[in-house]
Amino acid sequence: MRKKITIIGAGNVGATAAHWAVVRGLGDVVLLDVVEGVPQGKALDLWQSGPVENFAWGVKGSNDYADSADSDIVIITAGLARKPGMSRDDLLAKNVAIVKSCTEEAVKFSPDCVLIVVTNPIDAMVYTSYKVSGFPRNRVIGMAGVLDSARYRTFLADAIGVAPTDVNAMVMGIHGDNMLPLVRLANVAGIPITDLLSEERINEIVKRTQMGGIEIVNHLKTGSAFYTPGLSAVEMAEAIVKDSKRVLPCAAYVDGEFGISGCFLGVPVVLGDKGVERIVEFELTGEEKTALNESVAAVQNQMTATGL
Ligand code: LAC
Repeated sequence: MRKKITIIGAGNVGATAAHWAVVRGLGDVVLLDVVEGVPQGKALDLWQSGPVENFAWGVKGSNDYADSADSDIVIITAGLARKPGMSRDDLLAKNVAIVKSCTEEAVKFSPDCVLIVVTNPIDAMVYTSYKVSGFPRNRVIGMAGVLDSARYRTFLADAIGVAPTDVNAMVMGIHGDNMLPLVRLANVAGIPITDLLSEERINEIVKRTQMGGIEIVNHLKTGSAFYTPGLSAVEMAEAIVKDSKRVLPCAAYVDGEFGISGCFLGVPVVLGDKGVERIVEFELTGEEKTALNESVAAVQNQMTATGL
C-alpha cells in the first residue's frame, strides 16, 4: 500500500524534505504548517513537478492536522532556526513548546506512526517528542547522525580526492560541538583514513565536521542549513517505509547500550518498518568512551532544560 509521510513545518528544512521525499518516491506527502498559504503554495508547486519528474504521488499542503491522519511517518521540522552567534541550545525553550504541540497533534491523528524529529536542539527535541507522544522508543528518532556523517564524509572525500559514496564514516553522540566523528573506523572502500591522511589533516576535518552547522549559519546569516538536513530525514524515512534495515547513525533512546541509559544519543541503528529495530553496539576505545560521555553530559543538560 502507498505510504503517507507528513512533514510538519513548511520552512526551508520541511519544504526541502518534502522535495526529496517526492523525488525519492516515498509515497504521498502532506506538508503542514501553522502559517496559512505557505504549505499550500509550496505543495502545489511541488505537485506540479510530477509530469516532469515522472511521479504520481499526492502532495498536499495544509494547516489542518486532520489532513495528516494515518501517516506512516511524521517528520517534525517546525521551530526556530539559528542565526549567527546563537548556539543550538539558545533555541531550546521556544522550540520545546513548538515540538510539544506538533507532537500532541500529530499522534492524535497518526497513533501508529514513526516520529522523526529534526528541530534543534535535536537531542532535546526528540526527547520532548518521546515524552509527549508516549510512544515506545523504537518509534521516536532524531535526525542528526546522517547529516553530521554526510558532512564528515564529504570533507574526507574532498581531502583524499575520492568519491564521497566510497567514504564510510560515522559521527556519534550529540548534535552539537561535542559530537564524535569516529576516526578509527572511518575508511575509503575499507582502507583506513589514517593510512591516507595525516593526523593533522584528520584533526582539521573532525573540527570542521563538529562546526559544520555553524559554518553554514555564518554564511547564510538568516538561518541554518536545509538541503542536507532535509535529505537526511528523508534517508531515514526511506529506510523505514522500505523496511530496508539500513544502518544509519540516528538519535535513538539508549537503554543500556554502550553502557549508557536514559537519554537520546547519536548511535548506529538498524532502521526498518518498526523504526529503530535495534541499536548496533560495538566496542569503543577508552578515548572514544570519554568523548561519548561528554556528549551524554551535554544531552542530559538539555533534557533537564526541557522541564519534562
Ligand atoms: C545543522 C543544523 C541542522 O547542523 O543543526 O546544520
